[in-house]
Amino acid sequence: MKNRLMVALDVPQAADALALRDKLGDAVGWFKIGLRLFVAEGPQLVASIRQQHRVFLDLKFHDIPNTVAQAVESAGALGVEMVNVHAGGGAQMLTAAAGAAAAFPQMKLIAVTVLTSDPMPAEQARAVALERAHMAQDAGLHGVVCSVHEAAAIKQACGGDFLTVTPGIRWGDQDLQDQQRVADPAAAIADGSDYLVVGRPILQAPEPRVAALEALAMMDSVHG
Ligand code: C5P
Repeated sequence: MKNRLMVALDVPQAADALALRDKLGDAVGWFKIGLRLFVAEGPQLVASIRQQHRVFLDLKFHDIPNTVAQAVESAGALGVEMVNVHAGGGAQMLTAAAGAAAAFPQMKLIAVTVLTSDPMPAEQARAVALERAHMAQDAGLHGVVCSVHEAAAIKQACGGDFLTVTPGIRWGDQDLQDQQRVADPAAAIADGSDYLVVGRPILQAPEPRVAALEALAMMDSVHG
């Protein structure tokens, strides 16, 4: 299960990221590097994290097709094992991104469907997510970022091999913060999520490693 848990390194600096990496150690398989950290620390930090973990570069590229394809190529050259683009960029942009990703067999290319913080009603979010998942699959992407609430429907529509990456994970009495469509780690696994993205519930826990192990135990309980 640790290879299905991605911890979001939503911290300001490399020192914070590396401290967190050291605290979590081999309890988790993946770290997600997003906008804040990448803007501040760039490829060097990616290289440091890659020494011991897989990296999901979460920069949600959304631009004209040529620019996005070039950015995907740069991500591939960094050796990351997952990168994403925003499905809102349209079919042509997704196709260009997939074309660039093809040169990097180690890297999964994922489309963001609807942000889990988006306040659109659940029914509408599911419809938009499904439509964008189909578009991403047709364009040759490996999967989508979606909320747990849409994961089962996407798996059913696109097939079991089409990856679902789900943020918006909360458990116990944790604060939802800006997330809208949340689920706990057990529900995420039960609903067919391939990768769970967890940020603040682990980052802000008094003991991040304990919180990560708690999430892993809940994920495990589904199969056990
Ligand atoms: O702290 P929290 O667990 O809410 O963090 C979720 C992470 O997943 C953040 O890094 C956020 O940028 C990312 N994310 C998201 N919703 C998406 C795509 C990415 O919350 N649709």
